[in-house]
Amino acid sequence: PALIAAAVIGGYLLGSIPFGVIATRLGGAGDLRNIGSGNIGATNVLRTGRKDLAAITLLGDGGKGAVAVLIAWLATRESTKDVQALLTSIAAASAFLGHLFPVWLKFKGGKGVATFFGTLLAAAWPVGIAAGATWIVMAFLFRISSLAALTAVALAPIYAAFVFDRPLPIAWLALFMAVLIYFRHAENIRRLLKGEEPRIGGDKKDPA
Ligand code: G3P
Repeated sequence: PALIAAAVIGGYLLGSIPFGVIATRLGGAGDLRNIGSGNIGATNVLRTGRKDLAAITLLGDGGKGAVAVLIAWLATRESTKDVQALLTSIAAASAFLGHLFPVWLKFKGGKGVATFFGTLLAAAWPVGIAAGATWIVMAFLFRISSLAALTAVALAPIYAAFVFDRPLPIAWLALFMAVLIYFRHAENIRRLLKGEEPRIGGDKKDPA
């Protein structure tokens, strides 16, 4: 129980660090919430024209998820595999929720895609790699970040449960995060259906 509480609280606090907001502010690129989609993620940081800051955001938001998982994994080294999978999944879900609902931003956080990849790469790397490859292929084909993310996260639970046969908590974790990511992308989905979703590297002044 103490370990579960630590995973929830520690994961949440780690996940709630908004790397995009911090990087753009320190990098002198303004307030991210007044730029592009207003989202705090790497895709929106890219709309400032600063690839370096976008990379930092991607690595930071992904990295915090991976770190939460690794700490939970180390803390449960002596436990059974089942307990370890459960606890790392709880830490991952907590970090993910921290990113979506950070106390520092009045609980208005990001869409969770980078943190999704970070936690999965650490908790079940084949699943993370397969989902990441899906993102890359889709982004290459369509050049739309949200579409790439929505495809990759929908397939990740399938990769976890059926392709790589990961422990059940990992598959549930992937499904849980995927569902929340879809809710967070309601606006994006609406724009995608109308054919109005901006492309990666497209017009910097695009209102979306
Ligand atoms: O990773 C977030 C991406 O899927 C959408 O971001 O800024 O285009 O809403 P954005």
